[in-house]
Amino acid sequence: MLEFTTIPALRGWVFEQRTAGRRIGFVPTMGFLHEGHLRLVDEARRRTDAVAMSVFVNPLQFGPGEDLDRYPRDLPRDRALAAGRRVDALFVPEAAAIYPPGAEVLVVPGATADRWEGAVRPGHFTGVLTVVAKLFHLVAPDVACFGQKDIQQATLVRRMVRDLDWPVEIVVVPTVREPDGLALSSRNAYLGPEDRQQAVGLSAALRAGHDAWTAGERDASAIEAAMRARLAMFPGVRPEYISLVEPEALYPVAEALPGTIAMIAARVGSTRLIDNIILGQGLV
Ligand code: PAF
Repeated sequence: MLEFTTIPALRGWVFEQRTAGRRIGFVPTMGFLHEGHLRLVDEARRRTDAVAMSVFVNPLQFGPGEDLDRYPRDLPRDRALAAGRRVDALFVPEAAAIYPPGAEVLVVPGATADRWEGAVRPGHFTGVLTVVAKLFHLVAPDVACFGQKDIQQATLVRRMVRDLDWPVEIVVVPTVREPDGLALSSRNAYLGPEDRQQAVGLSAALRAGHDAWTAGERDASAIEAAMRARLAMFPGVRPEYISLVEPEALYPVAEALPGTIAMIAARVGSTRLIDNIILGQGLV
């Protein structure tokens, strides 16, 4: 695995791949890798000839008072995991390379970013889209893989690519879970033992919603009520939103159809967690 810290070095690698006629797959990450990230690599590898991964904790997507400073980092471990999964090029830029002094142009999403995560984290998706746009320009991928757990992020990246006519295929890869159902996330590292037990409430609530749907319930508010009832069994979980939405712009729906997304965000102790399932697919 090659590792690059500068933009010219990365661009040199990209040029070589293109010249050799190789299709490039890309997995952007903020590091502290887990099996969820590595499945994105597997998917990129399956679809392309050369896989690039970035590890960059993007300051622009963290609001004041969020966890930028304590976001978990372990580059040596990330390096070993990425190499073990046959990443070809690891890009680990300095913040100054991505945001040189005086940089002021941003990629500002539309109203789809104002709902759900965007409502609680103003500016978050501007930060995400700006860095993803920059990384797409640098890596020029044919395919980029994103995790389903951050479904609003994946939806917005897809919209950016569509609205700006970008020739990159966005692939959303199902969430990887612990055996008890907890969605893998770098932020799970913040959970103490008691919070970790309570955190399973999110996936349990999603499962309850999916069970209700599988049993024939189509009324979104009844399914949301089933989710809330299950979540109430986990007193350490404080829900922020529980909603059924359509997949294009994440508007709430009244009727739950196959493909409708059940989303949940909650605080467990001081940790904020999100999770979702797609009706008809369940907790894969
Ligand atoms: O999902 C993440 O880890 C980040 O939001 C991303 C896409 C790497 C952009 O910083």
